[in-house]
Amino acid sequence: MSSPQAFDALAPSYDTDFTSSPIARYLREQVHDRLLQHFRAGDHVLELGCGTGEDARFLAQQGVRVTATDSSEAMLAAARAKLAGNPLVQVERLDLQGLSASSYQPSVFAGVFSNFGAVNCLSEWRTLAAWLSERVMPGGIVGLGVMSPLCLWEPLWHGVHGNLATATRRWKHEGATFNTNGSPLTIHYPTIRRLQRDFSEWFTCTAVRPLGVFLPPSDVYGAIEKRPKLLGMLIGLEQHFGHWTVLAPFADHYWIEFKRK
Ligand SMILES: C[S@@+](CC[C@H](N)C(=O)[O-])C[C@H]1O[C@@H](n2cnc3c(N)ncnc32)[C@H](O)[C@@H]1O
Repeated sequence: MSSPQAFDALAPSYDTDFTSSPIARYLREQVHDRLLQHFRAGDHVLELGCGTGEDARFLAQQGVRVTATDSSEAMLAAARAKLAGNPLVQVERLDLQGLSASSYQPSVFAGVFSNFGAVNCLSEWRTLAAWLSERVMPGGIVGLGVMSPLCLWEPLWHGVHGNLATATRRWKHEGATFNTNGSPLTIHYPTIRRLQRDFSEWFTCTAVRPLGVFLPPSDVYGAIEKRPKLLGMLIGLEQHFGHWTVLAPFADHYWIEFKRK
């Protein structure tokens, strides 16, 4: 189970610690490029696990209407503060672990997206796919940024540093449990194939891209970002090879897109 309180504790410093870091900014731009391929001014899209509302703000700047949702009240408060007065963004509470049959009208959304691992808080994805299938219009796109089970950086970096438990945490069937300021949080790392299977009844998988093959996971950002030459080299590698679909299973996150049948 994921606890909203775990993310409440992260919310006040989330933008300083994560959103504004050079590596996260680079990866977010890649996601924005994907979103712009599908969503146009006037579309209405649903965002799952919006955090502090960075992507909702970006899409609203392009004229896209966003219903931005999250289960953490502190994240929602940060998003409301960031997006106050923005007529194109509605910030609402939605818990992916308690999806209600009565939320939102049938086929109301042109698309849905979720960035940076919000769906890793689930332990199965078929329930989400079935729920989305009733709310996304035929032909609509669902784009998900998912933490991958095989991220190469994690065993290499943490293995070399002698931290075997961290090096192998993504491989556990039962997920990895974190303790964030006293609140437990379990993260699951679905394979690309698992997500494709859970969505397959209602959606066709149309694209898979790596997000962060050469760039490290967020707990290593600090160590890399204080070495500007190394950071520049890794961003260069990411720019050249980081979009190769074949590398997606080995990235920190993968980006997966589904089209409503
Ligand atoms: C790593 S943050 C990503 C935030 C944002 N999407 C971004 O790009 O910065 C994960 C987000 O998922 C949210 N989340 C976790 N479990 C959730 C759940 N069961 N339902 C809805 N949101 C959840 C958290 O509150 C948090 O805001």
